[in-house]
Amino acid sequence: MKRIITAIALCMLFAGCAKPVTEPSLPSVDASEALSAQSSVSSEQTEKPQTTSTSIQQTEEPVEELPYINGSVTILGPNMVYTGEYFDFKNEFIPEPDSEEAEFLWECIGDAGNIAADGRFTGVQKGIVTLRVYDSTESVMGTLDVHVVDTAADVDFVPMVNGIPIANKTYPLPKDYDPGISSEAYDALKKLISDAKTEGLNITFLSGYRGYSYQKKVYENWCVKYPDGQADRISARPGHSEHQLGLSFDVNSLEFEFADTPEGLWLAENCYKYGFIIRYPEGMEHITGYMYEPWHIRYLGNELAEKVHNSGFTLEEYLGIDSYYRGEYEYAADIPLDNAENS
Ligand code: DAL
Ligand code: ZN
Repeated sequence: MKRIITAIALCMLFAGCAKPVTEPSLPSVDASEALSAQSSVSSEQTEKPQTTSTSIQQTEEPVEELPYINGSVTILGPNMVYTGEYFDFKNEFIPEPDSEEAEFLWECIGDAGNIAADGRFTGVQKGIVTLRVYDSTESVMGTLDVHVVDTAADVDFVPMVNGIPIANKTYPLPKDYDPGISSEAYDALKKLISDAKTEGLNITFLSGYRGYSYQKKVYENWCVKYPDGQADRISARPGHSEHQLGLSFDVNSLEFEFADTPEGLWLAENCYKYGFIIRYPEGMEHITGYMYEPWHIRYLGNELAEKVHNSGFTLEEYLGIDSYYRGEYEYAADIPLDNAENS
């Protein structure tokens, strides 16, 4: 418990000196009790997971091949904005131009938004546009498809950034996206568990795929326990959970202390070898949108997981995307919180 409070306090300090956090005020709360509550809800889905063939396919060229990309950070996103929002394509695409004199031409193909001469795109209505950037010789330097939506409810596609399916506070999944656990990810998890066992370590499956309606119950259960908005630091709103992608797992224990167990240490050090990353690292809530989750791993495939691991970046930083909610959560009138807590 003491360690949990310490971790919360550290998050407070970190959040205070970095970018705005979605939920800046922090409680003095018994997080372990709430974590246990999630554990009991999640356990309903831990038996014999069904797998599907969802897999990671990088459909676009690695961004490192484009000019002006700095180091290992891949910049080709986000691929979605909300109407009325600015998206600074120039800043995202060319973080550090070679010189002040460099000239670029920006083009927006489609009528869902427009792009200004300074490379800032503004979404004006639901739809898809293609952004292009040309250099001074009019060669295309890169393109990006951008979905413009009014609200998260508009999203009827799986957001892809650099060919990677993404779900976070910025990128929701369709309500009816229901892939089940990816067989590729589940096979990788089984190999991880089996190799850990040969080293005398016991990695156990806690939670995998969680569909939209199940996540709604999990999230609202947290809201009952943390009615002041703190639930958003711990649990994803329905449609925003990576568990709905079928590519994420919780293992062993939903306690911060797991990080310091032999299993937790091994997982952090080795999971990339099996295609996973620790998705919500310590002290990165201002970027990922969530408190430290040493138990939550996200499957990316071996190649990308190794790159992200070696970069030391969160997935958001690696892909050049953000993670924050654009609106307040709206409870469905027909599902009272009391029932959610008992589900
Ligand atoms: N706890 C993670 C953020 C989820 O709810 O998906
Ligand atoms: Zn999780």
